Amino acid sequence: MNTSDKKQSVLVWDFPVRVFHWLLVISFTGAWLTSEGEAFQLIHYAFGYSACAIILFRIIWGIVGTRYARFTEFVKGPAETWQYIKSLLVGKQAVSPGHNPVGALVMISLVILILLIDLTGYWIVKDVLGSLMSGAHEAISNLAFGFVLLHVAAAIIMSFVQKENLVKSMFTGIKQGSPEQAIRYPMYIVGMGLTLAYMYCFYLVVSGSLPSLTQ
Ligand code: HEM
Ligand code: HEM
Repeated sequence: MNTSDKKQSVLVWDFPVRVFHWLLVISFTGAWLTSEGEAFQLIHYAFGYSACAIILFRIIWGIVGTRYARFTEFVKGPAETWQYIKSLLVGKQAVSPGHNPVGALVMISLVILILLIDLTGYWIVKDVLGSLMSGAHEAISNLAFGFVLLHVAAAIIMSFVQKENLVKSMFTGIKQGSPEQAIRYPMYIVGMGLTLAYMYCFYLVVSGSLPSLTQ
């Protein structure tokens, strides 16, 4: 066996990807829990807009980020996706330690749904189409919630299938792979910048400093 075939702990998820993920979880959960009642209105908007801000960052990071953060690494066409499903059915292990093509489809759908929730939320505030928009906002939120359940179930099931704790990897960034599969830099500064930008965005909305978005 070649030495590089031996699996060892390698850094796969850079810090910005991990920060993005858990901030998105906080935003979605926060927006969900504050969706009813006038008292939480600004907090609800703040979670929603902050989610939008980090998604815009993630789109840029999907182009300029580290190896497994890039869209070209995990967004695959139908042929490759089908190939992956077939290999999974015969019990083969994934070749890349990055996102698998099927999981990527669910994750991208989730991100698009959250952007649509934000857009319809903004239109409710701007009184576009009245109760129709409220209905759309709530319906898309429920659909996204369904996708979240599917995504979490998939993360747990795939952890058993791959015999690797994928949820833990989203915290540590570490997965099993060969040394040449590792990314070189964790990009801590970018991740810290993202956290600060998120907090600032949240503060601006919650303090009412961006009336064009909240009134
Ligand atoms: C509101 C809830 C959630 C949303 C919107 C969400 C969304 C996402 C997105 C967009 C990604 C891709 C990350 C990237 O490349 O930047 C991802 C990955 C991932 N998420 Fe979530 N997530 C949610 C909750 C959770 C929870 C609760 C868990 C754990 C139980 C989880 C586990 C994971 C894992 C393990 C991955 C990496 C999958 C892989 O190894 O390819 N997610 N999620
Ligand atoms: C992740 C982001 C978001 C999620 C998951 C979310 C979820 C929800 C849900 C489930 C409701 C329905 C509550 C109910 O009546 O039972 C709701 C209501 C509402 N949301 Fe959001 N929301 C998000 C972002 C936003 C944003 C960015 C805005 C506006 C700036 C917004 C504005 C509103 C308004 C005004 C309502 C009340 C609608 C009405 O009853 O007329 N939301 N949201």
